[in-house]
Amino acid sequence: MNMSNAQNSDESLAPLFPLADAIPAAYRLDPRYYERWYLINGEVREWNGPLAEIHSPICLRDGGALRRPMIGHVPAMDEPTAMAALDAAVQAWDEGRGRWPTLTVSARIEAVEAFVSGMLAVRDEVVKLLMWEIGKSLDDSRKEFDRTVEYIRKTIEALKDIDRAGSRFSLDGGVIAQVRRAPLGVVLSMGPFNYPLNEIYTTLIPALIMGNTLVVKTPKFGRLLHQPLLRAFAECFPPGVVNFLSGAGSEIIGPIMKSGRVNALAFIGSSRVADILKHQHPQPHRMRCILGLDAKNPALILPDADLEVTVKECVTGSLSFNGQRCTALKILFVHESIASEFLEKFCAAVNALPLGMPWDKDVKLTPMPEFDKAKSMNGYVENATACGAKVVNAGGGVYLETLYRPAVVYPVAPQADLYFKEQFGPVVPVCVYRDEREFLNYVAQSNFGQQVSLFGRDHERVARLIAPLANQVCRINLNCQCQRGPDTLPFTGRKDSAEATLSISDALRCFSIRSLVAAQANPDSRQLIQDIVSGRHSSFLHTDFLL
Ligand code: G3H
Repeated sequence: MNMSNAQNSDESLAPLFPLADAIPAAYRLDPRYYERWYLINGEVREWNGPLAEIHSPICLRDGGALRRPMIGHVPAMDEPTAMAALDAAVQAWDEGRGRWPTLTVSARIEAVEAFVSGMLAVRDEVVKLLMWEIGKSLDDSRKEFDRTVEYIRKTIEALKDIDRAGSRFSLDGGVIAQVRRAPLGVVLSMGPFNYPLNEIYTTLIPALIMGNTLVVKTPKFGRLLHQPLLRAFAECFPPGVVNFLSGAGSEIIGPIMKSGRVNALAFIGSSRVADILKHQHPQPHRMRCILGLDAKNPALILPDADLEVTVKECVTGSLSFNGQRCTALKILFVHESIASEFLEKFCAAVNALPLGMPWDKDVKLTPMPEFDKAKSMNGYVENATACGAKVVNAGGGVYLETLYRPAVVYPVAPQADLYFKEQFGPVVPVCVYRDEREFLNYVAQSNFGQQVSLFGRDHERVARLIAPLANQVCRINLNCQCQRGPDTLPFTGRKDSAEATLSISDALRCFSIRSLVAAQANPDSRQLIQDIVSGRHSSFLHTDFLL
């Protein structure tokens, strides 16, 4: 695929892209990724229908031109295939009578442990595909994989805790009861392109291990990397428990939602799409939603902030993975007394970030997968400059094809799109303020409510901000960037930013519901329960516990 150059395009960036022959062998992609696999009803099948080409954002220099190389295909699935995947998940659930939803917790844990071994066997392939498909640095691609494995291991431990707590019986008001968590049914899981492995698995795995069955749709970028993992799903779980789809959401997801057979929607993406999906369900009250949505996390830089720490955290906070993180700092408010000193230091640090290919040592800024992303970033910049701002870092906003030099834009006026809209990319809007109430008003007026960062040392001043902010967002980061991790902490948001809470233990609760067995505490009931438990006749009512 060849692409045309436009305004602000800078040919001097061309040498940063590799010649095909000059890519070190260890980072090249094996041609066998020209594959076409999908998983439905426990079978890894070869797709013979239309295919979607996958192009990498890592452009190759070819003579004088740059081209996004094609690195593989995925099935461009149609409605009948989507419905076959849904049927398989519905059948595996079987109104709660399926093999997987009635299996013991320990057997489900064993299956997931076997899956982790299968995952580890393909780590290098998945990491390489992550890097080639979304341009994530090799280091961060490895971290994404390893963090996901760690997440699964901790999920297993958290489930053991829940299960141990559920093994107890309570006795109150003459009623004996055992309360456990039961699965919800069929889960549709959809994740974003910026963490196409991790964010899908942080809903898929908890949903799965709680006994639900799943249809998973791969994101718009980050699709091939799921193919090496399909075999492990097929081998470790009963048929129909996990089904993978790829294709245009409008074609394959609409019919699934409209069928009314989805019991839980796990979606990480935009609030606009989440609303469409929810409204497609004929009985939305029957569908639990676990949503991670838009965000525009702001930072407040107080007059006494330690500028060394602040600059470092604001640079990583706003520009890690080219700013393509829902948790990224997407607007900075700096006090007027330190604005010029902060900007000077911040711009120097932004301009020092190495730009290059994902495998380059210490690279921080890499090719971006979305088509025309650089142009949309510069659209924001042009709009802000029309409202009185300037690009204040030398070379900010120049790009070549998929590589973009971050633009620091200052001072951004409230009328500019960058003020309230989520840019999701390497443009950093900076605003100046006099009074902290301006920041509190901004947070209150924003459509988003995920996190904020506060930079300052005066404990009284910082303390005054904490309580009002805690009522507007769901995490206040003191002298550090916004982020999701560690994954044991609750990750959620208000307004357009989220519905429900994810964390290792919260996710297990999201994908399950408390269900209990209760009886009058009379001798007959006691004996009945005793017989069931001592003979291990039920996978739900029992006193076995896991260590
Ligand atoms: O894109 C949203 C991610 O959940 C952010 O996670 O803060 O670990 O990068 P992170």
